[in-house]
Amino acid sequence: MSLDWNTVFAGRVAGMTASEIRELLKLIERPEIISFAGGVPDPELFPVEELSQAYERVFRANTGAGLAFQYSVSEGYPPLRDWIAARMDEKGVPTDADRVLITNGSQQALEFIGKLLIGPGDPIAVTYPTYLGALQAFSPFEPRHIPVEIDSRGPIPESLEAALVQKPKFFYLVPDFQNPTGVTTDWERRKIIVEMCARHGVPLIEDTAYAELRYDGVPPPALAAIDAEMNGGEQTGVLYCGTFSKVMVPGLRVGWVTGPKAAIEKMVLMKQAADLHTSTVNQRVLHDLVTRIYTSHVPKLTDAYGARRDAMLAAIAEEFPDGLTWTRPEGGMFVWVELPEGIDAAALLDRSIREFDVAFVPGAPFFHDRGRPSTMRLSFVSEPPARIREGVRRLARLLRSEITTASAQ
Ligand SMILES: Cc1ncc(COP(=O)(O)O)c(C=O)c1O
Repeated sequence: MSLDWNTVFAGRVAGMTASEIRELLKLIERPEIISFAGGVPDPELFPVEELSQAYERVFRANTGAGLAFQYSVSEGYPPLRDWIAARMDEKGVPTDADRVLITNGSQQALEFIGKLLIGPGDPIAVTYPTYLGALQAFSPFEPRHIPVEIDSRGPIPESLEAALVQKPKFFYLVPDFQNPTGVTTDWERRKIIVEMCARHGVPLIEDTAYAELRYDGVPPPALAAIDAEMNGGEQTGVLYCGTFSKVMVPGLRVGWVTGPKAAIEKMVLMKQAADLHTSTVNQRVLHDLVTRIYTSHVPKLTDAYGARRDAMLAAIAEEFPDGLTWTRPEGGMFVWVELPEGIDAAALLDRSIREFDVAFVPGAPFFHDRGRPSTMRLSFVSEPPARIREGVRRLARLLRSEITTASAQ
C-alpha cells in the first residue's frame, strides 16, 4: 500500500498552497500575450556584459579565486556588508557591517523574521493588501493576521492604532511603491507609524524591495532612519530588509537584513542552520558589480521603467471606463486597480487571456483572507510603451463589456 503523504504532513503545511501567481506565469509565455502580470525586472536591462566581466575577475583574482568557491561565514562576504553599511549610512540608517546579514534574496530575510518572532497563533499586523510572498513566508509559523487599511498616503493611522492595541508581534510594511498597490507611505505617515509602533513596543519590519526605483518626487526617509533619529542615532525598533534583485539581477539571490544586534545575532544562527551562507561566488560577483556600476546602472533602470509607468498611466487615464479607481505610483513596478464591486478579477483574467491576449494579476491573493476580489495588479515593467498602450486598450475593452454586462443584470 502506498503512503498517503497528506496524512503525515505537519499541521503548518496544511495552509501551504502553490502561489497562484507562479502557476499563472507558466500560462502566459506565449509571445502574443501582453503581460502586465509578472513583477519581475526586464531581462533586457540586465547588465549582462558587466556581469560576465565581474565573474571573470572573481575567477581570476590571485587572492580570491579559490576562496570564491570555498565555504564562508554565515553573516556574508565582509566587503559586501561594508558596502551595504556605507549605503545605509548615506540613507540616514546608521549601521555597521556587523549588523548586516546577507540572505538569499530578501525573501529569506522575511522567512527568518517569521521564525524569529511568530509563535503559533501569535497576532501579526500586515497591510491590507500586502506582498503575497511575505504572507507565504510568515504563514508556516501559523500567525493570526490583523489587517491595517491603507490609502494613497500609506497605512491609515486609526487602523494601525486598532491593530497595535492587540499587541501584534510586528507590523510588516513595504513603504516604497508597495507591492501590490504602488502606494508610497508619505513622510508624515512614516513619522506617525514609527512613533506609534515605538509607543506600543511593536517591532516594525521595513521591506524596501523597490525603494531605489523612483521615477519622480522626493524620497521620504526610511522608517529605520526615523527610528534612529528618534533614538539618538541608534536603530532600535526596525528590521530593515533590502535586496539587489530589482536594481541588479534577481538570479544571484542576494539580499540583506539589518537592525538591532540582538535580532541580527539570532538570524545569523538561523542562516547557519538554513544553508550555512549565501553563495560565496555570487556575493563576490555582486560586490564587484555594485562597486563598479551601481550609480550608473540604477538611472538606466529608472529612465526605462519611468517611461513605461508614464505610458501605462496615460493609457489608463484615456481608455479606462468610469467607475474604476487606480493608483499613480511614483516608482516601483505596479499600478493597482479597483473595479466596481461584484466584478471578480480572477474570472476576468480567464477571459482576458483567452480572448484579449492580456495578462494581469488578480488582487485577492494579496489580502490574507482574499477579501477583495474586485481588484487587480498591473505591472508596467515587462513590456515596451507601445505594447503597454495596446494592452491597456484591450483591457479597457474587456472592462467596458464586463461593466455593461454587470449593470444589465
Ligand atoms: C515587496 C517584496 N519584498 C521582497 C521580495 C523578494 O525579493 P528577493 O527575494 O528577490 O530579494 C519581493 C519580490 O518580488 C517583493 O516584491
